[in-house]
Amino acid sequence: MSSGSPRIAQGRIAGDRPVPHIVTELPGPKARAHVAFDETWTSPSLPRAYPIVPIRGEGLTVEDIDGNLFLDFAAGIAVTSTGHSHPKVVAAIQDQAAELIHFSASDFYLPIYPQVCRELARIAPISGRVRAYLGNSGTEVVEASMKLARFATKRPYIVAFLGAFHGRTYGSVSLTASKAKYHAGFGPLLPGIFHAPYGRVEDLRWFDEVLFDKLAPADEVAAIIVEPIQGEGGYIVPEDGFLQGLRDICDRHGILLIADEIQSGAGRTGKMWAVEHWGVEPDILLTAKGIASGMTLGAMIAKAELFETWGPGAHGSTYGGNPVACAAALATIELLEGGLVDNAATRGEQALAGLRPLLDRYDGLVRDVRGKGLMLGIEFDTGEHAEEVQWACFERGLLVLECGKTSVRMSPALTVTEAEMATALRIFGEAVAAVAGHGPAVLEEVVDAGAADARPHLRPDDRRRGRAQARLLVARQPRRRRPRRHPSTDRRRDPRADARDRGVQPLRDGRALHRGRDEPAVLPAAELFRDRPAGSQPPDPADPLALWR
Ligand SMILES: Cc1ncc(COP(=O)(O)O)c(C=O)c1O
Repeated sequence: MSSGSPRIAQGRIAGDRPVPHIVTELPGPKARAHVAFDETWTSPSLPRAYPIVPIRGEGLTVEDIDGNLFLDFAAGIAVTSTGHSHPKVVAAIQDQAAELIHFSASDFYLPIYPQVCRELARIAPISGRVRAYLGNSGTEVVEASMKLARFATKRPYIVAFLGAFHGRTYGSVSLTASKAKYHAGFGPLLPGIFHAPYGRVEDLRWFDEVLFDKLAPADEVAAIIVEPIQGEGGYIVPEDGFLQGLRDICDRHGILLIADEIQSGAGRTGKMWAVEHWGVEPDILLTAKGIASGMTLGAMIAKAELFETWGPGAHGSTYGGNPVACAAALATIELLEGGLVDNAATRGEQALAGLRPLLDRYDGLVRDVRGKGLMLGIEFDTGEHAEEVQWACFERGLLVLECGKTSVRMSPALTVTEAEMATALRIFGEAVAAVAGHGPAVLEEVVDAGAADARPHLRPDDRRRGRAQARLLVARQPRRRRPRRHPSTDRRRDPRADARDRGVQPLRDGRALHRGRDEPAVLPAAELFRDRPAGSQPPDPADPLALWR
């Protein structure tokens, strides 16, 4: 683990403050009040990972409502590919908004819409004539691809994969199979969908031995939809040969191969599209998330002859391909091709080199380190430990996000610098050490190395100063070998317990975690995340702070 991370360059938001820089307890007082306000008015279905309330972003720096600075390795769920508010993207958005905000490309000829389609066709890994359709989100273009595949092939069935995530509208959620809760209570789902095992070459036998033999004839299967690297399912990289095997099955039976690159695409894996790591050409490619730097745009890119089976009215959208989102996409593509895809590859190597030693150092706790480019997954032995690491990172000012059942993902903007990556790796290492019960030893290494810049959150003007200094004092003690304990039995070193002692609670699916069977969350901040009993009075929405008086 790098102990002497170079200092991160300052910018508009950070000024001369280092990043991260935590100046309040987390969540801070304004964040707590805001969470109460939010929880009064918003749908409880939003899962919410932890209570950050962002108000400004620049590059990988995010400032929250209390003035804390975070280093963002979550990127709005792998979206802000060019960093927060990249000046070129902002300028493109501002210029377009000043000219024309909406007209609807469904019914009229909006000039910027085909420009984006042409650019997407140019960069798509699909040979021959290519066209594109623009929607507003990932799930919308997944839906579009299901309609196009059925329409063009005149076949009913679609195959997706166990562990897949394709969205939450009815068609896409029927394809999704990463967590049963996404289906719970919503059935019956869309019929005609099968789920295959994902990732191993030997799993491909399922198609001949199970699907085509027992469930549906191959010539009734319209499409196989696959994430080249599974995203929400846990950042799972398939074996070499898996995607090629799918391509072969499709070619043998006239089935369309749909690559859902909504998370893996737009340069995130160190190539423009993840399928390019394996030289596999899909018939239809889906993109969203990073392609417009956070503006709402999704695209279905496909062989022109598939599109040309559709007539007018077969598909469309009032907003899809909105000119402001299109302007952001054009600026984003230029930046991706201008060096960010290459940077993703280089910084990804740096990340893997920094993360792999955790496998030996925390053998048993850290189970796998995997990924390509800046689509990085770190798997833990249990979901609880993944959650604890996510929380321990948050407390230290690093934003990461869980995925799958037991993994934490790093998906920073493709603009990430060497220094930012080094800082993130150091903090992540500290977080894992804390969860493993080795916190001080790792801090000691940092202090021993005299790496002042490697601990930017320990500043004299910190309101956390006392605690930070206490930690450093502990760190300066001669190193003692601590016997390894099972982290969840080591209360003194458990960051969740530590957080709760200070009145804050990590979340699981928007609810407070309760540590142990008989230890309910009792401190004020926990109130925010508790299930409200039916009929109870919510906090006064006009005065959310009331909860805190
Ligand atoms: C691979 C993949 N497909 C589809 C979606 C759905 O995208 P959206 O949330 O924009 O609807 C996601 C979102 O996480 C995704 O990762």
